[in-house]
Amino acid sequence: MTNYYTEKINFFGSSTPKQLIDQYGSPLYVYNERILRQRCREMANFVTYPNFKANYSTKANSNLELLKIIREEGLNADAMSPGEIYVLLAAGFRPEQIFYISNNVSEDEMMYAINLGIKVSVDSLSQLETYGKINPGGDVAIRINPGFGIGHHEKVITGGENTKFGINIGLVDDIKTILKQYNLNLTGINQHIGSLFMNGEPYVQSVKAILEFAEQFDDLKYIDLGGGFGIPYKKLEGEKRLELKQFGRKVDELLHQWASRNNSDIMFMIEPGRYVVAECCVLLGTVHALKENAGNLYAGTDLGFNVLVRPVMYDAWHDVEVYPKDEKALSPEKIPVTIVGNICESGDIVAENRMLPPLAVGDILGVLDAGAYGYSMSSNYNNRLRPAEVLIQSDGTHRLIRRRDTLEDLLRNFCCETIPAL
Ligand code: LLP
Repeated sequence: MTNYYTEKINFFGSSTPKQLIDQYGSPLYVYNERILRQRCREMANFVTYPNFKANYSTKANSNLELLKIIREEGLNADAMSPGEIYVLLAAGFRPEQIFYISNNVSEDEMMYAINLGIKVSVDSLSQLETYGKINPGGDVAIRINPGFGIGHHEKVITGGENTKFGINIGLVDDIKTILKQYNLNLTGINQHIGSLFMNGEPYVQSVKAILEFAEQFDDLKYIDLGGGFGIPYKKLEGEKRLELKQFGRKVDELLHQWASRNNSDIMFMIEPGRYVVAECCVLLGTVHALKENAGNLYAGTDLGFNVLVRPVMYDAWHDVEVYPKDEKALSPEKIPVTIVGNICESGDIVAENRMLPPLAVGDILGVLDAGAYGYSMSSNYNNRLRPAEVLIQSDGTHRLIRRRDTLEDLLRNFCCETIPAL
């Protein structure tokens, strides 16, 4: 291989994309342990404030083996469901390392976390009351909405007016009334105003907002500032990384100041998902057909939106590399091509109108930065099988970390005894 981004960073270790696909099948999620560890460390060291934790946001990718690595790197975790809590415990996280940021959940779901001794945050007055009823006198956290949000798409902006998330910061009196009514201890405040920013300034503003809000409560033990740290999805075109140093310094200053003025024991947390896992993954797929329709060239692949839904759901961009079947055939010429999947919808497009070398049936494609909200949002739509996941370990060797679905998996949840042997 020559001139590939993945080659420059030695992404595939001692294997080639073709060898991996030959062994594990296509499509295939491939992760790189070295990059994952590096990103964990960057988040863990975001600020110098001593009582600080980066909580990895499990929803971005809940592969058990990746969670174990993230835990080894010293991160704690946030969970959004009992399922995520369950998998985090299986990965070795202790209950006190998990923060359950709940949204519109049943009493049973709340109890699941409470019984395990896991910190729970609720994000409406109504859920605060529910919490009070089932755990009077208990510790609780609330998620606030500071009145503004950020994000790469309206669907992932979680602060401001057009969102279901958080308790409006103007509702302090109502919050205090419910806390008093049920004798609850407000031990934490958290927020998350949206996903993917490449400029830290709005986040800094949101930190100021939550810190100001926090001054209205005594006895807080922790304040969680939220996630949303972006990664450069257009890195092949030279998109710059989020500048963490200066940004981190600004946040750091605010934390030190708040702690010295209010409570020097306070713990601060952040909850990054994408930043930790997006870039340690390349999704491999195979070109199965080429077609021209009304002057547009389509490359038909096995990368349907059941495998990676982000482009379809958010018009998200992922850089694409081509690993030709016949290496010698890689032409310096580039032509526009639209890469589509094998799902029965016209919207099943991974990458539209990309300038790529002419493709051939059998070529392998690498979709970069697929580690966050890739596998975790995949599905069995069209009864397609979800792919396997493979880890390129720090020594360059590879290891299967989740097997591909089988056809039998598609029948696993049916209860009838009459399924014939197939
Ligand atoms: N904390 C909370 C409460 C969240 O809801 C989220 C993401 C995070 C932390 C982590 O955000 P991150 O650091 O990953 O931006 N599926 C979309 C992103 C949805 C994010 C949902 N919440 C995508 O593929 O872009």
